[in-house]
Amino acid sequence: MFGNGRKKNGANPGAGNGDLIDLEGIRKVYDTGAIKVEALRGVDLTVKENEFLAIVGPSGSGKSTLMNIIGCLDTATDGSYRLKGEQVGGLSIDRLAEIRNKRVGFVFQNFNLLPQLTAFENVEMPLLFKGTQARQRRERVEFLFEQVGLSDRMLHRPVELSGGQMQRVAIARALACEPDIILADEPTGNLDTTSGRDIVGMFEELWHKGHTLVLITHDAALAGRTKRVVHVQDGAVVSDEAVA
Ligand SMILES: Nc1ncnc2c1ncn2[C@@H]1O[C@H](COP(=O)(O)OP(=O)(O)OP(=O)(O)O)[C@@H](O)[C@H]1O
Ligand SMILES: [Mg+2]
Repeated sequence: MFGNGRKKNGANPGAGNGDLIDLEGIRKVYDTGAIKVEALRGVDLTVKENEFLAIVGPSGSGKSTLMNIIGCLDTATDGSYRLKGEQVGGLSIDRLAEIRNKRVGFVFQNFNLLPQLTAFENVEMPLLFKGTQARQRRERVEFLFEQVGLSDRMLHRPVELSGGQMQRVAIARALACEPDIILADEPTGNLDTTSGRDIVGMFEELWHKGHTLVLITHDAALAGRTKRVVHVQDGAVVSDEAVA
């Protein structure tokens, strides 16, 4: 299923080539029984460490599908995906979950915070899964709240926060396990212009600190603040340009 004979490092699969993300010939077919949807039709994309890029494209073009594959939330139907040199296709569900927890931080349009937990507990959750000790968890979570400027809101529940504040909590949670990459799917989609700008500013700051960020967005202004814009259309990359 995986491996299409076009791998750059076919001779030494464990070695990697310095790319953080290396997708080759990625296809994704959703088979819902009666209908098959070919959401991705052979995507080639590489992302190096400390890149800040936007994936843009019309609704239904395959952006979220691509992000889910990059983030190990889903697997491709065909093609090769290496994350930090490790071939991800064909791994077990457990191993994928482990990679996801360790390597990927997600930020979603609707924040995806657990409503019954406090902001603190939401950010602590991935550290609990990772098995971090209580004291280190507490220190890390407090540090992350300082980073996103919300130390005075740690004990609030999501419903007691504004959209922009909820997204900052989500960013703190995404950073909890020091991921290699931050993936954000329409992170400003539910925010007003000012909060949206604030969140983009936070992403810029993270990029300056050395993080790698991939944003999916409909918002041309947001895309223009990244360093590279990849256009997806009908499940394929149609352009890939540096932002001037
Ligand atoms: N779970 C699924 N089952 C079947 N088809 C799906 C599934 N998820 C997505 N699709 C289909 O795959 C195609 C790509 O969807 P995807 O969600 O990746 O688009 P998108 O670019 O993120 O769109 P949007 O900008 O509206 O979020 C669409 O035609 C969609 O209907
Ligand atoms: Mg989408």
